[in-house]
Amino acid sequence: MKDIFRIAIDGPSGAGKSTIAKAVAKALDIDYIDTGAMYRAIGYKMDKGGVPFEVCDALDAMLEATDIDFTGGDIILDGEVVNSLIRTPEVSMLASQCSALAPVRAKLVEIQRAMGQKKSIIMDGRDIGTNVLTDAEYKIFLTASAEERANRRFKELQEKGEHQTYEEVLEDIKQRDHNDMTRELNPLRKAEDAIEVDTTGMSIEEVVNAVLDIVKSR
Ligand code: DC
Repeated sequence: MKDIFRIAIDGPSGAGKSTIAKAVAKALDIDYIDTGAMYRAIGYKMDKGGVPFEVCDALDAMLEATDIDFTGGDIILDGEVVNSLIRTPEVSMLASQCSALAPVRAKLVEIQRAMGQKKSIIMDGRDIGTNVLTDAEYKIFLTASAEERANRRFKELQEKGEHQTYEEVLEDIKQRDHNDMTRELNPLRKAEDAIEVDTTGMSIEEVVNAVLDIVKSR
């Protein structure tokens, strides 16, 4: 293994990317960068500030005045920890919408590339292997059936006391899959050189081990 290496993990909503990436980061003692959290933070800030979800001067000005960073596992938006504020179903949809806007992607991809130059990292998202870190040493495409992903998200939301039915969660997942795969800019797709891992029916531990095996065997 080289001194510095980057692991790119892409895949649809609810495939377990962040759970797996966090565990792999821990096992390999490297940093984890959750790019979805960055889009969520922007969607949250746009909504809170009444910035229209279209390319406009107000959006440019807002992005100019936005600072996003990760410290000790927390996501910091303009100096404020926003971990739980960005995990609601509403912000999931806002993130999906703002991620289709070119200025938003340009700003976040620049920050993400800079993060990938300094040290070994595992970064998850939708376009990491195809756009952000095209030269990543390891590329993994994590998938699972829409029903299994909806089931996992439904259980998570129930534990947090959020009230969405399974059908609503499944509908959200399908809507976001559609948005993420059909948008013009850097849509979700598997990089040609990525290894696909279908996690349907697999436990978290099994998936983590499958990813670690891929990293250790190359
Ligand atoms: O992974 P997530 O559900 O937290 O991502 C939130 C939204 O952000 C998702 O709908 C797609 C978008 N996203 C993206 O377009 N590109 C990324 N690299 C990461 C997320």
